[in-house]
Amino acid sequence: MPPWAWRRAAGTLPEPAGFFADARLPLADHEIRHYGQIVAVVVAETLEQARDAAARVEVACETRPPNADFGRAKRHAVRPPEIPGLPLGRVIAKPEDVDIEAALAASEVRVEATYDVPPRHHMMMEPHAAVAAWDDGKLTIYSGTQGPVAHAMELAAVLGVPPADVHVISPYVGGGFGGKAFTWAPAMLAAAAARALGRPVKIVTSREQLFTVTGHRAASSQTIGLGAYRDGRLHAIKHHTVSESLVEDPGYRAAQKYYATPNAHIELSITPGMNLPPATIMRAPGDEAGSYALESAMDELADRLGMDPIELRVKNHLANTLIGGIPYASKHLEECYRVGAERFGWSRRPARPGSLTDGDDLVGMGMATAVLDAGRAPTTARVTFRPDGTATVACATSDAGTGMATIMAMTAARALGVPADRVVPALGDSRLPVAGADDIYGAIGSAATATVTAAILAAAREAIDALVRHAATAEGSPLRGAGDVRYEEGCLIGAGTCTGAGEARHEKGRLIGAGTSIGFGELLGLTGTAEIGADGTSTAPDDGHAHASYAAHFCEVRVNRWTREPRLSRFTTVVDAGAILNAVTARNQITGGVLFGLAAALCEEGRVEAATGRISNADLAGYLLPVSADAVEIDVHFLDHPDTGLGPAGARGIGELGTVGAAAAFANAVFNATGVRVRTLPITVDKLLG
Ligand code: MOS
Repeated sequence: MPPWAWRRAAGTLPEPAGFFADARLPLADHEIRHYGQIVAVVVAETLEQARDAAARVEVACETRPPNADFGRAKRHAVRPPEIPGLPLGRVIAKPEDVDIEAALAASEVRVEATYDVPPRHHMMMEPHAAVAAWDDGKLTIYSGTQGPVAHAMELAAVLGVPPADVHVISPYVGGGFGGKAFTWAPAMLAAAAARALGRPVKIVTSREQLFTVTGHRAASSQTIGLGAYRDGRLHAIKHHTVSESLVEDPGYRAAQKYYATPNAHIELSITPGMNLPPATIMRAPGDEAGSYALESAMDELADRLGMDPIELRVKNHLANTLIGGIPYASKHLEECYRVGAERFGWSRRPARPGSLTDGDDLVGMGMATAVLDAGRAPTTARVTFRPDGTATVACATSDAGTGMATIMAMTAARALGVPADRVVPALGDSRLPVAGADDIYGAIGSAATATVTAAILAAAREAIDALVRHAATAEGSPLRGAGDVRYEEGCLIGAGTCTGAGEARHEKGRLIGAGTSIGFGELLGLTGTAEIGADGTSTAPDDGHAHASYAAHFCEVRVNRWTREPRLSRFTTVVDAGAILNAVTARNQITGGVLFGLAAALCEEGRVEAATGRISNADLAGYLLPVSADAVEIDVHFLDHPDTGLGPAGARGIGELGTVGAAAAFANAVFNATGVRVRTLPITVDKLLG
């Protein structure tokens, strides 16, 4: 089986990962395609020895001038090959044969501009790292991954062993952001080296190597054309992108799900064969860059029309998907605008750019919309009662720092009617339940909560049924033959033998006050049963509706009038993401996402040396990330309207939502402060001078 033969990473992700799996295989041939590519692996007793030995490796190679300059390459971009089953890269038009230039020309008011986004790297705290050990031809690998089962399948394919012979253990993941969605060289090489040596091998990438031996968000250049009537209604949307890679498709990800228009034209061209490390998905792939461009262009249009940016957006509300006309379920975006404007104080926004000052600061306010498709993938979870009075809830997904373990325990606890501290979550292990050979669900596509909770709720129902049957029939059960046994809050109650049940109460699975109620732990102890459990599954929703999460971001910036340094001063976001299951973990996701997006706006940029393809700022001194001093408290408000069409918990995805639109809100605020429209990220001082 080739490495790309496994199918889908998540219900919401159109990429099957296959079309760039080749690029992730290390040491596959003798071609050096990019600076920093792995050409050898050195294994030693200590890290210091290995590093020293690696530094002594001499590589003899012929050199050619690299194709590493995206700014040059994009002038020769080509239409990507069609990939069966993949909408990426296709021309998406409505109607099919729309003449978008004519539609724009016929519009009363037009804006058209190009927005450039540089390459960006997943700088999660924990680098890619793996410890691999073989035993009797079977691999056990401790490796940070967002999808343990997918990781096992990819490793099996690369190593030429059956997937069942690879056991991936990944209980804690120190951040992924898409960088750990797929399998990269460090884990593959740890496994290969351990097999060759017959000893365990540990590989940890250095911070510098993270820029070159694992993927990144591809650079993109987006041309947006908007045509409108004078009253603000859109007549045409053109969203044409050139990207380094098919993975990053901002037009497809953004333009078709924001605004209603009779004419839309979305197109992607790519610059194949660049001598750069391979691109991959990164938090809100396409959506983040796409929303920056589209929501900046909407701000430019509002300015051109002399219209409030919120009014322009409300006027172009999208009730059904632009392509296909499928109605959106549970869309409360207008409420986000209204509540957000109120909380933020949008009415105080100066209408004229550059007109509000505070001491040496030019103050500006901007807003942007965030839309992120919401999905639910197939997977299985298992809920199990144990004799010690605890229950386990297990699923082969992973917790990449999002709080999934908490959500799993909470969801099972609620379904079982017991306190969360009596539920033990198990995840991050490829041997845990998963739906089937082709369903390899991981923490991807902001779909984990909707997916996993649906499976857990179904499993809990089945497990309770199995427990009740067990209580009524098992040898040793005090409720055996007791008639209608029912389950309540961790206890089993036999109606038929009920005497004085009014006084009986149960706490923490123990019966207090005697009677006919028995805690499940005690029951399993009496029947000598190690566990009673059941599986539950989640499937993709089929309620005939489209589902998406929304947010309205409001940003205030201060730009020093002398140094032109832009600083974030306030940020409010109002989020419509269905039911919020845990306010703490949800708020953390949105806050982290917003800061992720502001990082794109303010500082993050992989700089490629055109002459060599070297990433010249490949460390945390040169690659700027925002720090606490750059942040302010993000005001996050959830509307909390359950979307039960997507799943029984009513929750939609939030992991990637915060970053969508955040850079546009910042850029629009910078325009409002200064009158300068920055169309190339990041928005650095030099771009605000002059
Ligand atoms: Mo996220 S880029 O789907 O891991």
